Amino acid sequence: METAKLTWKEKTIDLQIEEGVMGEKGIDISTLRKSTGMITMDPGFVNTGACKSAITYLNGEEGILLYRGIPIEQIAENSTFLETSYLLIYGKLPNQKEFDEFEDNIYHHTMIHESAKAFYDGFPTNAHPMAVCSAVVGAMATFYPDSLDVRNERHVEISIHRLIAKLPTIAAYSYKKSIGQPFIYPCNTLDYCNNFLHMMFSVPCEQYPVSPVISKALDVLLILHADHEQNCSTSTVRLVGSSMCNLFASVSAGIYALWGPLHGGANQQVIEMLRTIYDGGGDLQKYIDKAKDKNDPFRLMGFGHRVYKNFDPRSRIIKKVCDDVLNKLGIHEPLLEIALKLEEVALKDEYFLEKKLYPNVDFYSGIIYKAMNIPINMFPVLFAIGRMPGWIAQWKELQEDKGFKIGRPRQIYVGPPKTDYTPMEERK
Ligand code: ACO
Repeated sequence: METAKLTWKEKTIDLQIEEGVMGEKGIDISTLRKSTGMITMDPGFVNTGACKSAITYLNGEEGILLYRGIPIEQIAENSTFLETSYLLIYGKLPNQKEFDEFEDNIYHHTMIHESAKAFYDGFPTNAHPMAVCSAVVGAMATFYPDSLDVRNERHVEISIHRLIAKLPTIAAYSYKKSIGQPFIYPCNTLDYCNNFLHMMFSVPCEQYPVSPVISKALDVLLILHADHEQNCSTSTVRLVGSSMCNLFASVSAGIYALWGPLHGGANQQVIEMLRTIYDGGGDLQKYIDKAKDKNDPFRLMGFGHRVYKNFDPRSRIIKKVCDDVLNKLGIHEPLLEIALKLEEVALKDEYFLEKKLYPNVDFYSGIIYKAMNIPINMFPVLFAIGRMPGWIAQWKELQEDKGFKIGRPRQIYVGPPKTDYTPMEERK
């Protein structure tokens, strides 16, 4: 096996090199502290691999994304969100019988416990739906104490069905509460996306006619968000799960991690940014200059990615879906025009080229959500619904890992040295 040598003072140690199936290499430092007393420092985990995973392959230099080996372009073209969920969680495409069973389980767990509806009365009307969704998902552990054993296959199985099935209901209820409309119960004869749109937009006195164009576009968007290997929210789910904490609590933490503007909250920020540019008269250069100004904290939202240093393959697909949806629905969206121009200007700008900043998955997704009449603060919630199978697959892989360990990073302490306690009367 290939090794790397680390020389420190007079000592040299050999470190094994691990190689993945696509040729990526990592230096195994698991014995480093034992043999040298030292740790590694890697803020933001830019160079640190935390696990071996067989779920998603991502090559940021070439813009490649594979779910269980299958290119994202083929999955988006041919699959559905529920089939993709099965693929990610169980490692293979289901045969007809497996898929029917899985789908049936999802469709029959869509209702939430009646008592859980009371939570919604406790939140302020303007509560952000990400906070509501995370809280209600976490609270599912209180309703299903019979399925919390992380080493019990049946417990895990039923928790998987409940989470995928109930998150759209939980999400739609948070929206209904915010606009003062009654909750709409799920309808199990509708497919996954139609059902979500029905719960969002139907009212007891009028059924919402779901457009097949919109529900298909939503399905593709959920597929594109379904997994993205060890990103911030997924790493959060794994870290929480590494204390052998149940799936509901682990995913609830993941939803909070996703909420931040540098992660899943970016799609909300993109639309807000495009709106500001539009309302301000469309002066793109002003915002490009602001983004480039070291003294200005402004960033071009929807641009840049920790891993992709080339086009994000998902953003290419989303851009096509966006064009398609707006054309088919006959919507003229001025924000799309701003986005297209912004992309054109940024991609010719030396700053963006040099730093390899390209549009990411969030740049166009908000425009599609807007065309679907989804309110802006629900954009990250749709990301969470999409990411659910990825979080579950990663959590399950961690629990089944033979080398399972609680996650516990180290640090270099930079606080005061050992200091005696000063009594109050002697303090300045
Ligand atoms: N606009 C302007 N400059 C940027 C942007 C941007 N959107 N993104 C990165 N840069 C610059 C940084 O200022 C930095 O410049 P410097 O080297 O001169 O200091 C350089 O590019 C590298 O940026 P980092 O923040 O170090 O890159 P990192 O990998 O840590 O961050 C991130 C990636 C958080 C996505 C960043 O590009 C960003 O903030 N983008 C905007 C928010 C966004 O769209 N997030 C969604 C990400 S995709 C997702 O989660 C689904």
